[in-house]
Amino acid sequence: MAEQPANADSTSQAEGEPLLLDVRQGVAWITLNRPDALNALNGDLTAALMAALERVRDDDAIRVGVITGAGRAFCAGADLKDRVRNQDEGRGPTAFPAAPPPSYFSFDTDKPMIAAVNGYCLGAGLELALTCDFRIASTQASFGLPEITLGFFPGAGAPIRLPRVIGFGQALEMLFTGERIDATHAREYGLVNRVVQPEGLLPEVERVALKIASNAPLAVKSLRDVIYQGMDMTLPQALRFGGALRWAIGQTEDAKEGPRAFAEKRPPEFKGR
Ligand code: COA
Repeated sequence: MAEQPANADSTSQAEGEPLLLDVRQGVAWITLNRPDALNALNGDLTAALMAALERVRDDDAIRVGVITGAGRAFCAGADLKDRVRNQDEGRGPTAFPAAPPPSYFSFDTDKPMIAAVNGYCLGAGLELALTCDFRIASTQASFGLPEITLGFFPGAGAPIRLPRVIGFGQALEMLFTGERIDATHAREYGLVNRVVQPEGLLPEVERVALKIASNAPLAVKSLRDVIYQGMDMTLPQALRFGGALRWAIGQTEDAKEGPRAFAEKRPPEFKGR
């Protein structure tokens, strides 16, 4: 992974790095960078992705993460050529692991994540996009889960996440057929929030990311906890949990600064306290 200091505006364009990480104005830009292989996830890219996600979680200067792809793909899924090599060489686990190692698809950065989907978003690539809180796509994006046509099924969360993000029947059709949908259909299904021209994708994602990054970080984090943890609770439990976190956030300095800044007709200065 090509890495830059978090507190400085930075641009990394290291040739040959499987992943680029730029941190600018509180936003971490993660670019999958194997364009010749349509950003297929091989071992090196997967390891670099995990390291980048850990950095997003651990670096207090990062408020929001964005994942995108270099070239004409977001990510064309697991590296199938790697898979063939591993098969041929008899590598890989021989038993289902009792405690699976941390992986990008079960990892939570604890911060809002946006997928900027610039092109092919297939298999594990779509599963990666589904780990993000929401997705914004270019008109050139397409989405699909081809695994079922390859003799297996998606193993990085799609059978669990896709039916929770889009309509149940639409999710099952995508999972069972392996057929691709274009950006317009993805918008209709609610898989992406909106579709923009290719040259407008990163500016639009940056606009949204900076807006989120400008909000009080403790409030954003707690809101995210209420949304996701609340989904696993009964409605009364979730409302009670949300109320408790909302009370706690109301006690922070930032929750006092917001109304004060409004009354004084100036932008708020949130400090994360
Ligand atoms: N794993 C490894 N390499 C991949 C790949 C993958 N998942 N997807 C694409 N590539 C490679 C191709 O092998 C090709 O490399 P080459 O030039 O060395 O032959 C390069 O990326 C460009 O792909 P290509 O197939 O020539 O582009 P295309 O525009 O004709 O087709 C796709 C694009 C995405 C439709 C096609 O590449 C494809 O179906 N990829 C596999 C997608 C998939 O099944 N993903 C799920 C894996 S579980």
